[in-house]
Amino acid sequence: MKIDASRLQTSMEEMARIGATAGGGVHRLTLSDSDKDARDLFASWVKSAGLSLSVDEMGNMFARREGSDDLATPVMVGSHFDSVPNGGRFDGSLGVLAALEIVRTLNDREIATHRPIEIVNWTNEEGPRFPPSMLGSGVFAGAFERDFAYEVRDTDGMRFVDELERIGYRGKLPCQPRPLAGYLELHVEQGPALFTSGIQIGIVEGIRGLTWLRITMKGARDHAGPTPMHMRKDALVGAARAISAIRDIPGNLGSDLVTTVGEISVSPNAINVIPELVTFSVDFRHRDENILTRAHQAVVEVSGNAAKQEGLEIEVTPLGGSTPMAFDSGVIGAIEETCLDKGYSHRRLWSAAGHDARYAADLCPTAMIFAPSVNGKSHAEDELTLWEDVTRSCEILGGALVSLANQP
Ligand code: GLV
Ligand code: MN
Ligand code: MN
Repeated sequence: MKIDASRLQTSMEEMARIGATAGGGVHRLTLSDSDKDARDLFASWVKSAGLSLSVDEMGNMFARREGSDDLATPVMVGSHFDSVPNGGRFDGSLGVLAALEIVRTLNDREIATHRPIEIVNWTNEEGPRFPPSMLGSGVFAGAFERDFAYEVRDTDGMRFVDELERIGYRGKLPCQPRPLAGYLELHVEQGPALFTSGIQIGIVEGIRGLTWLRITMKGARDHAGPTPMHMRKDALVGAARAISAIRDIPGNLGSDLVTTVGEISVSPNAINVIPELVTFSVDFRHRDENILTRAHQAVVEVSGNAAKQEGLEIEVTPLGGSTPMAFDSGVIGAIEETCLDKGYSHRRLWSAAGHDARYAADLCPTAMIFAPSVNGKSHAEDELTLWEDVTRSCEILGGALVSLANQP
C-alpha cells in the first residue's frame, strides 16, 4: 500500500502542537485539557474522513469505516493520544494517525474492504496520572471493572470519572468485550533493538508482563539539628536504601528483568525537618510470570529490610499491572508477508513497553508493528522516529490491516 507520507507527517505535526513542550515533546496527561484538545482534533479528522465516531463509557473513541459486508466482525487498529509527563511526540499518536492515514488512502482510492475497520484511541494508555496503565483497553477487555477505573484518583485527588465527564468524553456505549476479527497496533519501538541493528521494521511477538506497586514508609518527624543521629527514624533514608536495593534485583534474578522507581514524594519535604513520610512507585517487567513473582517477593523483602533498619513502618500497595502475552502467529505472519512484499528488513522481538494490544489480545488475534526509535529513546522529549521510518511502518500496517480486513 502506498500512503500519502506528507499528509501523515502534517497530521503528526499538527497533533504534536497539542500539549507541545519547549523541549520538543508533548505533555498530554490523560483527561487533561490537552487530552481533550487531541481528542477533538482527531474527531474532526474522523468526520472529514466520513467515518462514524462512537465513544464508550471509558472515553475510548472508535472511528468506523464500513466494510462491503457491514455485518462482518470488524478489525480494530489504533493506539493512544495521552502521554507521560513531558513525553515524546510519536508514542501513541503514530499508531492512531497511521491508521487514519490508511483509511484516508482507502477512501481516496475508493478501495472497499470486506470487514469494517475501526480506528481506536484508547483512554489512559500511559497511566502516570491514573494508574494502572492501559485502563481503557483493560476495561474493554474485561480485565478491570469499569467502576474500579472510575474511582482511581490522581495525586490531586481528582477522580477519573469526574475528569472524564469534565472533558466531555464520558460516552454512552458500554465498555465491554465485543467480537473483533483482529487487532493491529503500530508503535515506535522505544528501545534500541531496531535502531542499533539498522533494521527497518519490528514485528512484535508479545508483550512483557508488568507490575506496579506503591510503597509508603513512615518514620518520625523531628528537628534536623538537635535530634541525635541514633534517635532518628528517617523515612527518606529507608526509601533511599530500598530504592538502591530494588535497582540491584535484576542483577540477582535475571538480566532481562527491569526495575524502576520513577516517582517519589517526601513529607514534609523541608530542608531542616527529618522526613516523616515517603511514598515511591516501583515498576518491574519481564516476559516470564515466575520471574515477575520472584521480583515482587524480592521488592517486598528488600524494602522491608530497609524499613526495619531505620525503624520505619512500611506499607506495600499493588497498583495493578498486566501479565505477559504472546501474540497471534497468524497476524504475525500477515505482517511478515507485508514486509517481504515491500522488501523492508525486519525482525521479530518482544515489547518491553506496555501497549493496549496486550488487552486486545485477550479478545482477538493480535500483533504489533514497531518503527525504529532514534537512539532507542522514549518517555522523553527527545524521543524521535525518522519520517522515512514513519512512512515505511505505516505502509506495513496498511498492508497487514487490509489483509486482515479482507479475510472471509
Ligand atoms: C507505557 O508506555 C508503559 O510501558 O509504561
Ligand atoms: Mn505508547
Ligand atoms: Mn508510552
